[in-house]
Amino acid sequence: MGIIAPSILSADFTRLSDELTLVEKAGADWIHIDVMDGQFVPNITYGPIIVEACKRACNLVMDVHLMIETPDLIIPEFARAGADYISVHQEACSHLHRSLQLIKSFGVKAGVALNPATPLSSIEWVIDQLDFVLIMSVNPGFGGQKFIESSVHKIKALSKLLKEKNSNAIIQVDGGINNTTIKQVSNAGATSFVAGSAIFNTANYKETILDLRQNI
Ligand code: DX5
Ligand code: ZN
Repeated sequence: MGIIAPSILSADFTRLSDELTLVEKAGADWIHIDVMDGQFVPNITYGPIIVEACKRACNLVMDVHLMIETPDLIIPEFARAGADYISVHQEACSHLHRSLQLIKSFGVKAGVALNPATPLSSIEWVIDQLDFVLIMSVNPGFGGQKFIESSVHKIKALSKLLKEKNSNAIIQVDGGINNTTIKQVSNAGATSFVAGSAIFNTANYKETILDLRQNI
């Protein structure tokens, strides 16, 4: 059990289609697509055309993580490109409830991502709108960063809060996930695990994903 979502941020972009086929064959469940705008985070990555290309290259569930300001302007394009799940950052949305409604209006699953410093209380009144919550266990912007330990307590607290609110929202965790940290966050209640460098920087994706699963 558990959803393994490799982040293509650490894939070899000269061979994107092959990389997707390899992780799909290796047993990945979702593919995590990190969209960065150079404003909300210092880095810049890719837009809807890459989601559309990934969709054509594999049958994995498309999980689009928007690390961008004013996401409402482009959510429709990501939905049309084939996103199955879209998360927006709480810190980037002036009208979070409206952004979630917009995602859902396309039949796409809606999630909120929280930076390490952002409290859970900031999403309390939209929990009924959420299909998933993304707990950032690094500061967003780059792959290969060190896992922030306090994320474990945050996931535990979120798990409790979701139970209290009778929510079935999935808890996703993103940043610094490896064989050690996946154990900690799954014990805390996370069920969807994003991993970039821990998967794409290894030689055998099948073995790596199997190892990650064994630690859940
Ligand atoms: C960071 C991104 C992550 C990143 C994770 O801003 O949201 O999805 O790819 O990379 P690793 O697994 O290497 O920490
Ligand atoms: Zn991400």
